[in-house]
Amino acid sequence: MKFRIALALVWAFAVSTAGLVSAGTIWLDELDIHSAVQGWGKPHRNKSVDGHPLSIGGQQFKHGFGTHAESTLHIELDGGATRFSASVGVDDEVNKSPNSSVEFIVRGDGKALWKSGVMRAGDAAKDCEVDLTGVKSLVLEVSDADDGIDHDHADWADAKFETVLATTFATTGEPALVPVAPYLLTPPAPVTPRINGANVFGVRPGSPFMFMIPATGERPMTFSAQNLPQGLKLDPQTGRITGALSARGEFTVTLHAKNSLGAAEKKFRIVCGDQIALTPPMGWNSWNCFAGAVSAEHVKSAADAMVKSGLINHGWTYINVDDFWQNHRDSRDPTLHGPFRDAQGVIVPNSRFPDMKGLADYIHNLGLKAGLYSSPGPWTCGGCTASWKHEQQDAQTYAKWGFDYLKYDWCSYGSVADKEMTNPTNAKVWGETPPKNAQAILPYRVMGTFLRGQNRDMVFSLCQYGMASVWQWGGSVSGNCWRTTGDIRDTWKSMSDIGFNQDQAAPYAKPGNWNDPDMLVVGQVGWGELHPSRLTPDEQYTHISLWCLLSAPLLIGCDMTQLDDFTLNLLCNDEVLALDQDELGKEATCILKDGDVRVYAKELADGGRAFGFFNLGVTPANWNFKALPQFGLAGKQLVRDVWRQKDVATVDAADGNLPLTIPAHGVVLYKLTAAK
Ligand code: GAL
Repeated sequence: MKFRIALALVWAFAVSTAGLVSAGTIWLDELDIHSAVQGWGKPHRNKSVDGHPLSIGGQQFKHGFGTHAESTLHIELDGGATRFSASVGVDDEVNKSPNSSVEFIVRGDGKALWKSGVMRAGDAAKDCEVDLTGVKSLVLEVSDADDGIDHDHADWADAKFETVLATTFATTGEPALVPVAPYLLTPPAPVTPRINGANVFGVRPGSPFMFMIPATGERPMTFSAQNLPQGLKLDPQTGRITGALSARGEFTVTLHAKNSLGAAEKKFRIVCGDQIALTPPMGWNSWNCFAGAVSAEHVKSAADAMVKSGLINHGWTYINVDDFWQNHRDSRDPTLHGPFRDAQGVIVPNSRFPDMKGLADYIHNLGLKAGLYSSPGPWTCGGCTASWKHEQQDAQTYAKWGFDYLKYDWCSYGSVADKEMTNPTNAKVWGETPPKNAQAILPYRVMGTFLRGQNRDMVFSLCQYGMASVWQWGGSVSGNCWRTTGDIRDTWKSMSDIGFNQDQAAPYAKPGNWNDPDMLVVGQVGWGELHPSRLTPDEQYTHISLWCLLSAPLLIGCDMTQLDDFTLNLLCNDEVLALDQDELGKEATCILKDGDVRVYAKELADGGRAFGFFNLGVTPANWNFKALPQFGLAGKQLVRDVWRQKDVATVDAADGNLPLTIPAHGVVLYKLTAAK
């Protein structure tokens, strides 16, 4: 008792002394700010993200934390601080860039305590004053203000805490999860043949046909097909179907694969009509690993690895070059110096890509398809030559080289958008009255029309970060997929913010038209500086499960030559991939939120339904799923654990319960089908 009174006296003395004399001050830059998670660059103490003295709206600051959206820093206060103050804003180093806009948010114990509102380059610093009495856990967050993270250099200047007793605070980038070692769920594919991948393939009349039957099982394997329509032929050794179809129509083919241990067959629909990409494209893209350092050698190695790793046998097809295959407007890198276009206006690739046709041939010879990147503006996002005023010529060039996919990225188009609306050639596109969002639609309509004019099926991937509700009109400009968000990073915040916010676009997904929540961040990623994905193993299961439920294009973003067992295991689960490739093309939506649990449901072509049970919490969740009739299920249901490829229960929809344990930030992925 005496001891408690003495302690209370010391406490009262400390508090009153702190109050009377001076409460302690801890500057934010005295804490370990390096654990912050941010969308680009590294956290800087007393400097901007680019390493300059902190400067907002012309005012310089000595103290602070220079970061980049999207940024989070968790600080464990445990009630030890009474006040937080800072001057916040966009750092002047972005040179008034119109793209930079951010919002600073201070959260205490999960509640937003202060928000700066949207702040742009050049704005004067805003004063942030927050009462922290009793707050245990603080988060300093910088969002991209919903327009992508380009040029979002953000400063928490003069940031400090007033404290009682405390001398420092622990920080983390994201709330700590109990570490879980990578664990493999996908069972090995059988040695007997199994035909994987989509059940349907779209082609336009007259376009070169190219489809490789994806099949697992021991080699050698031979292939055959019944009812192959006239104009197509199958190579029995490789399983490649080539040729061309002249007539529109639907053809149901039976594919066969055979090895010394057994045989497999599968019904496969070929649809010859206007629409391609009848299931979401699957492949690889160079950006999330190599970014501006990409070369033809990287791309060839990725294609080789797609075959050697066996991923090709699970339906992975496209090998896509992102930005930086062209020459650059002002880079110091000599490999990017050279003419932008030749005397006839044909685009000239940079010295790292000496032979574009050769590259596409190389990829095709492996049974894969090739993709390319450009922008409707004068320059790409990275500052390389883009397609403005050369749209038709570029579409012809890509087709001549043999590319099968174009990602078309808005970027610098903003600088010419007004002018293009009054350009008489373009004005004709609309007739009398331009539609709503005409300015956003125009460049995609122009390129979409030219791509359609080529005698080659090229998947058209719109990249404009979801502006002007692209999902509502992307299909009308021949778009096959469209980004719905800014760029993804390999953090829980980025991946989960994107993945769990796709519902409004979902009703627009259908065969040939897919919402694209950006590329995968598993494996060795890093935009030029490779590191293992910062997502935990369970977060990676969430990422792949969610993207498959969302019918998202699946583009692997990692260095394919460094695939570890865990990453490979994530990418070769045929039952998980089948949800993505389901021919009904219905995107899952969130059907239930309960605390940290989110339930996503996806209708499937075979009448079954896939359910993703996700746990956004930082500890495992024990949770019971029981409202089955509410979600359109009746009678006895067979429950299959899709990752483990195992039936786990039969439940009666009327009164059944599905008790689940969902890992922290993890998922349980089930498919329910009416039991026979
Ligand atoms: C971004 C785009 C990225 C990547 C990059 C290339 O705008 O969202 O996915 O393509 O440009 O500079």
